[in-house]
Amino acid sequence: MMIIPRQSYCLSGIVTLYFFFLVSLFLHTLASPLLQFCGHGQRDALLEFKHELPVNKSNSSPSLSSWNKTSDCCFWEGVKCDAKSGKVISLDLSFTSLNNSLKPNSGLFKLHHLRYLSLVGCNLYGEIPSSLGNLSHLTHLDLSDNDLVGEVMALVGNLTQLRYLSLSNNKLSGNIPVSFANLTKLSHLYISGNQFTCVDFPLILENLTSLSVLNIANNHFESTLPRDMSRFHNLEYFDEGGNSFSGPFPTSLFMIPSLTWVTLSGNQFKGPIEFSNTSSSSKLQSLYLSQNKFYGPIPKSISKFPNLESLYLSGNNFTGSISTFIPKLVNMFLDLSDNKLEGEIPGWLAGVSTLMLSRNSFNSFAKSFEVSDLSYIEWLGLSSNSFRGPLPSWICKLRPLDLLDLSNNSFNGSIPQCFKNTLVGLRELSLRNNDFSGIIPSEIFANATKLALVDVSGNKLEGKLPESLINCESLQLLNVKGNRFKDKFPSWLSSMTSLHVLILRSNKFYGPVYDPHVSIGFQSLKVIDISHNDFTGTLPPFYFWTWREMTISSEEDGSMYMGDPGFGDFYRLSMEMVNKGVDTKFDLIRKDFRAIDFSGNNIFGEIPKSIGLLRELHLLNLSGNAFASNIPQSLTKLTKLEALDLSRNQLSGQIPPDLGSLSFLSTMNFSHNNFEGPIPKGTQFQRQNCSAFMDNPKLYGLEDICGQTHVLNPKPQETEDLLEPEEQQVISWIAAAIAYGPGVFCGFVIGHIFFTHKHDWFMEMFPRSNPRRSAR
Ligand SMILES: *[C@@H]1O[C@H](CO)[C@@H](O)[C@H](O)[C@H]1NC(C)=O
Ligand SMILES: *[C@@H]1O[C@H](CO)[C@@H](O)[C@H](O)[C@H]1NC(C)=O
Ligand SMILES: *[C@@H]1O[C@H](CO)[C@@H](O)[C@H](O)[C@H]1NC(C)=O
Ligand SMILES: *[C@@H]1O[C@H](CO)[C@@H](O)[C@H](O)[C@H]1NC(C)=O
Ligand SMILES: *[C@@H]1O[C@H](CO)[C@@H](O)[C@H](O)[C@H]1NC(C)=O
Ligand SMILES: *[C@@H]1O[C@H](CO)[C@@H](O)[C@H](O)[C@H]1NC(C)=O
Ligand SMILES: *[C@@H]1O[C@H](CO)[C@@H](O)[C@H](O)[C@H]1NC(C)=O
Ligand SMILES: *[C@@H]1O[C@H](CO)[C@@H](O)[C@H](O)[C@H]1NC(C)=O
Ligand SMILES: *[C@@H]1O[C@H](CO)[C@@H](O)[C@H](O)[C@H]1NC(C)=O
Ligand SMILES: *[C@@H]1O[C@H](CO)[C@@H](O)[C@H](O)[C@H]1NC(C)=O
Ligand SMILES: *[C@@H]1O[C@H](CO)[C@@H](O)[C@H](O)[C@H]1NC(C)=O
Ligand SMILES: *[C@@H]1O[C@H](CO)[C@@H](O)[C@H](O)[C@H]1NC(C)=O
Repeated sequence: MMIIPRQSYCLSGIVTLYFFFLVSLFLHTLASPLLQFCGHGQRDALLEFKHELPVNKSNSSPSLSSWNKTSDCCFWEGVKCDAKSGKVISLDLSFTSLNNSLKPNSGLFKLHHLRYLSLVGCNLYGEIPSSLGNLSHLTHLDLSDNDLVGEVMALVGNLTQLRYLSLSNNKLSGNIPVSFANLTKLSHLYISGNQFTCVDFPLILENLTSLSVLNIANNHFESTLPRDMSRFHNLEYFDEGGNSFSGPFPTSLFMIPSLTWVTLSGNQFKGPIEFSNTSSSSKLQSLYLSQNKFYGPIPKSISKFPNLESLYLSGNNFTGSISTFIPKLVNMFLDLSDNKLEGEIPGWLAGVSTLMLSRNSFNSFAKSFEVSDLSYIEWLGLSSNSFRGPLPSWICKLRPLDLLDLSNNSFNGSIPQCFKNTLVGLRELSLRNNDFSGIIPSEIFANATKLALVDVSGNKLEGKLPESLINCESLQLLNVKGNRFKDKFPSWLSSMTSLHVLILRSNKFYGPVYDPHVSIGFQSLKVIDISHNDFTGTLPPFYFWTWREMTISSEEDGSMYMGDPGFGDFYRLSMEMVNKGVDTKFDLIRKDFRAIDFSGNNIFGEIPKSIGLLRELHLLNLSGNAFASNIPQSLTKLTKLEALDLSRNQLSGQIPPDLGSLSFLSTMNFSHNNFEGPIPKGTQFQRQNCSAFMDNPKLYGLEDICGQTHVLNPKPQETEDLLEPEEQQVISWIAAAIAYGPGVFCGFVIGHIFFTHKHDWFMEMFPRSNPRRSAR
């Protein structure tokens, strides 16, 4: 038996370990060239690329943390090598936030063997360096999404192996050069959402006949299409919307059997449309021709597409009736708005799910609607046509409907009891600008729990607001402006927690605004306009305590649906409002807009001190009431206020100088009150029109504003003759000129404030008569 001393055992242990260490080190060194696929040059290029990134990115990004020397670079995340050569041939860092620009000498461009490169959604910015041209083996290049700039197409035109190229949604620009015509292997080309130009697409596309996806939408292209599009026999998806393509309708395009999606919307195409020589096995599902200059009838030949699901022809000059074409209808989206179509709505359209016919000249419905199955229709937009007479009785059979827009027609008669059925499940209802009359049946909203928007403004409706509205737990906007409603203030609406906009303007509402027996609520109100009614009573000091949405700034909570951006109405109508605006600086198309208009009533007593809580308020109009006493000091806390009209009340005391420190307050009116003392010196005040202070006999300091020579408070006798009765309001505004179209609840408010300018210098300088003034 061998005895090993304790110490030597220990020593031999160390020796053994050391031996194994040496062996493993040797084996490792020996094995490396055999096991490692990735060449050192390739690895170093990748690491170089990684180290170009901001330190935080390279550390925090999970995919890049695997890029370290402990493992073979062919196994790093996003990296693939050629099995034989060990060269990196694929790099996919899609949606890894790199937040970087590409340097000309970047390690990336040393990966000369790359065939697949995807940096989509990597937050790259800056120019693409010309070294990209070194990656001449690329077949797949994806640099789409966030912020690349500069001209790149000359470069890309050299990458002749490309099959897939996506540069979409950057800020790239420049002309597409002829060299691009050499990319004959391209099957997928996505360059939408840039600022590219090209004058000769027919030349560029001449030999790119392998294309199956061609998305060049939303650039600055002004060109025509190749005359014979049928040569692109693999084409499935073609989107060139939002450019300035011109020429006739590309009939030859529709001979391609594989075609499923075509968008020509938003260009300058002109002339009639026609589909000839279309294969009966056509796969076409979506056809977008909106916003061009097409005219003539909608041809029968459109019915040749058995698989058509979406047809958008809005914003052209199509004429005639639509009695002839019958494509696959059930659940189809059909948008024919903004044309010059006329006549009867044929019965077979009852099978469509989205039927948008607004702004045409349709005037009647086929009899067969009465007996049709109306359960397919979800959206029915009939605004601004020539419909007249009572609501057709089938309207009560429409369910479950999502949107019903009958606005701006001449429908008349009363709203039938059975309309209650239509409202079940409905989200948006507009009966605005028709001739509806009579009383709205009180139970009509009993089951309308999904209703978010109700607009019945501009009719001749009378009686009480239907109390069943309280069941509309989703109600966001109620507009009854310009009817003959005769009711007390609907305090019961104040408990509706989603109500953002309440407009009772220009009706015959009466009685006190404040009801001590009902808690005030209105926690979500953003805009309230109860002007031009017969409201009276006082408002207690705490009146505004509960108006939370005007008190605290809230990010858009998402519950407020702002409309489907897929439909152009929001933008179109908004722009219309802007263009019509009198004083453009107040064309507010803002969802954060907050406004109160109580003007033209007979509310008296003090302005509630709690008004100072409404820090989000942009516009306050209390004019034409009988408010008395001083302006509450708290009003000077409304830091977002842009317009303030307190004219035509019985307010007294001094105008608080601190109002001048409200930096956005640009329009004020204090006229026709009993204010006294100096007009504050602030520039906000000095910039006002003289008329904003007139008829306050004890107010002084107007010289700077009105000039020295003008008599500011002449004797009544002198003014009487000069005044016209309609010249009653100095500032008027249209609160919540609600612009919405089908499915679109437009930003929800467009406020216009404007001066009723009297350009006659004399009229501006002199006050007008009013009853209180004359009595003095
Ligand atoms: C990394 O991020 C942290 C906070 O996220 C920051 O304090 C630090 O300065 C950043 N380091 C670099 C080098 O950007
Ligand atoms: C190095 O990469 C391996 C995976 O390849 C990973 O497990 C390891 O955590 C990485 N090391 C560092 C320091 O990030
Ligand atoms: C990206 O980097 C820039 C500076 O290089 C920095 O200002 C910006 O905050 C970064 N963004 C993100 C999302 O990391
Ligand atoms: C690109 O190629 C050119 C010449 O072919 C060469 O001079 C340059 O160094 C290359 N750039 C990179 C980043 O590899
Ligand atoms: C395209 O390639 C040719 C020939 O290799 C070269 O002369 C030219 O400079 C390249 N163009 C660009 C923009 O890189
Ligand atoms: C297209 O490619 C051919 C051959 O590769 C080349 O000779 C020609 O110069 C290229 N055309 C353009 C406009 O770059
Ligand atoms: C298309 O290909 C033909 C035949 O190869 C060639 O003659 C023509 O120049 C090419 N067109 C363009 C624009 O490159
Ligand atoms: C349709 O096909 C016929 C016969 O094949 C042909 O004569 C005609 O020119 C084609 N029409 C169009 C617009 O291509
Ligand atoms: C429709 O035709 C009228 C004149 O007939 C023209 O002014 C208008 O621009 C045309 N609209 C479109 C979209 O082509
Ligand atoms: C209402 O319709 C008429 C014609 O039917 C049209 O002229 C007018 O512009 C429309 N008004 C609105 C607000 O759409
Ligand atoms: C509705 O309008 C039609 C004409 O369009 C008219 O004959 C009828 O008297 C009107 N009915 C009511 C109740 O106003
Ligand atoms: C309305 O709701 C009540 C009870 O919630 C129900 O009995 C009635 O059938 C509903 N009416 C309609 C038209 O759905």
